[in-house]
Amino acid sequence: MTIAKRIETAIEGSSWIRKMFEAGDSLKSIHGDDKVFDFSLGNPNVEPPEQFKAALRKMAANSGGRDHGYPPNTGLADVRRSVAAYLSKEQQADLSEQDVIMTCGAAGGLNVILKAILDPEDEVIVPAPYFVEYNAYAANHGGVLKTVPTLADFSLDLGAIKAAIGSKTKALLINSPNNPTGQIYPEEDLRQLGRLLTEKSRSLNRTIYLVSDEPYRKIVYAGKQVPSLFTCYSETMITTSYSKDLSIPGERIGFLAVNPAAAYREDLLNGMALANRILGYVNAPVLMQRVIGELQGCQVDVAEYARKRDLICDGLADCGYEFTPPAGAFYLFPRSPIPDDVAFVGMLQEKLILAVPGSGFGGPGYFRIAFCVDDDTIINAMPGFKAVYKQATS
Ligand SMILES: Cc1ncc(COP(=O)(O)O)c(C=O)c1O
Repeated sequence: MTIAKRIETAIEGSSWIRKMFEAGDSLKSIHGDDKVFDFSLGNPNVEPPEQFKAALRKMAANSGGRDHGYPPNTGLADVRRSVAAYLSKEQQADLSEQDVIMTCGAAGGLNVILKAILDPEDEVIVPAPYFVEYNAYAANHGGVLKTVPTLADFSLDLGAIKAAIGSKTKALLINSPNNPTGQIYPEEDLRQLGRLLTEKSRSLNRTIYLVSDEPYRKIVYAGKQVPSLFTCYSETMITTSYSKDLSIPGERIGFLAVNPAAAYREDLLNGMALANRILGYVNAPVLMQRVIGELQGCQVDVAEYARKRDLICDGLADCGYEFTPPAGAFYLFPRSPIPDDVAFVGMLQEKLILAVPGSGFGGPGYFRIAFCVDDDTIINAMPGFKAVYKQATS
């Protein structure tokens, strides 16, 4: 073998999203791009805001001197200051630039956090369904991902979380608005979660961290808001990115922040600054740091996603599909009309519709639709969705 066994196994079991992507490519080459309805990827299709383009032009026009040299591993101080000022309002906490580290997206932020806190075989608990890359991220740093179920509406099952916490638990990892369910955890549940983690940390004599992965925080519907996590539990770290809310996932820019009230705040930040460097990121892309430093509070036009959400929800409800409408993000997680979600997704594929089986997210019996696609893709896919529903339920 020329590559590591662990990686070979990971490639073999590679995610459903990737499988769908590959299936899509092959179907598109046979039938043509416009004949295939691809709902498999969370790649934003709403245009980045004008302010982003203007800031990018400005930074490019003024580029010179040592602008493109290595910045501090944690990121440029003035950019972190601007992020901290915005975050202080959002999280209702008093953050300074010291509490923020710029990262290569939320994925980079998660890897930095896990690298800094996990000892071999430490457990990271995650409510399922969940973003499947978490498995690899925990394993990257010697940790083990342990899933717990959620309730029927995909809200937190605090009883299941309580039962899952043990002497190896190092962190609880949550993602709200959630990929794949689109649900937002309510504030009261998060407060109870904070109390539970405080009690468990005390009784186990070990700090259990709450890690909040928030790349969809700003993509919310019908006036919904994502509660502050820092006010719910002191030992909280958040990570996020501008991938989804500015539609720039290819630019790999995000940040992590540690609750200023965390008991080991300084150790955590020192550990994460080192992790950012030694994981090989070195630092987040410096041009993008400067750009987003000017764009705090700026975001894509969420009304566009709201329109797509309504189109897909109304269309699928008409066909007979059952689902909870998403409160945020750009995913819908309907129940599969037949118990075997993998078989159902195969039936959709026969009508050239690409979705991802819920099994790929630890949520069997459901399937995920990423509705960050053109309106026409949603509209033109409806006859196929209808036909497959009829076929599956007859
Ligand atoms: C829940 C979740 N976390 C993290 C990421 C990684 O995003 P980023 O581009 O910020 O690294 C994604 C990307 O789809 C995601 O859905």
